[in-house]
Amino acid sequence: MRNIVTGNWKCNKLWDEADKLMVEVVEGMQSAGHTEVMVAPPSPYLAALRPRCNEFVALSSQQCSASGEGAHTGEYTASMLKSIGVKSVLIGHSERRESFGETNAAVAAKMKQTLDAGLMAILCCGENLDERDAGRHFEKVLAQLSHALSDVSSEEMDRVVVAYEPIWAIGTGRTASAEQEMHAAIRQHLTALFNQSIADSTRILYGGSCKPSNALEIFMQPDVNGGLIGGAALNATDFLAIVKASNEAISKAQ
Ligand code: PGA
Repeated sequence: MRNIVTGNWKCNKLWDEADKLMVEVVEGMQSAGHTEVMVAPPSPYLAALRPRCNEFVALSSQQCSASGEGAHTGEYTASMLKSIGVKSVLIGHSERRESFGETNAAVAAKMKQTLDAGLMAILCCGENLDERDAGRHFEKVLAQLSHALSDVSSEEMDRVVVAYEPIWAIGTGRTASAEQEMHAAIRQHLTALFNQSIADSTRILYGGSCKPSNALEIFMQPDVNGGLIGGAALNATDFLAIVKASNEAISKAQ
């Protein structure tokens, strides 16, 4: 199974900077490794960055509409993203859940839109610090998964990737030192929701202050299959070093 490393640029970079970063990432990715690499730039740049991609770097969208096309000012659909060559959509990122009121129901609807459009879904889940301190982190994350996957079929699960991102580790410099424990719990939950073979073949990414200095250690955890990278994806050298760490982790494990 190949890892996935996705760079989430969030709401950063003007066009010239974004274009330059994409060129640098693609220049550094001239062969296939053990890792699928995706980049999620701000939405206005997606179509213009598409020709910059090569076969080793694909585009991801940071979100999509919960409904299909129609009178929904400001929204864009998963099918529109598909039509410009986007490969995957980040769904339910904690920043969207917390700052834009994205509910579990909206996350489930976006999962459906994304999978119906034939795209890959990178489903984000994670607890905040209060929930972790109260020992409710497993309950929180597994409930998020149950909601988001309630309308997803076994056949569609080969296009679903889970990204565990503890909110207290995002952009804070703190990484979850016990991420393996949560990743194992997520995999076990996928067995209960679907079956063992689907659970074993679903990629579970870690996100939250992943950087070149800690990436190998994180990716060496048995149930970690890559990363969703924020801050360190804003610089090609760091991002490519994280991809390299992912390739190295797979090579060591083989
Ligand atoms: P970070 O963000 O790497 O800056 O912590 C990760 C994310 O939110 O996807």
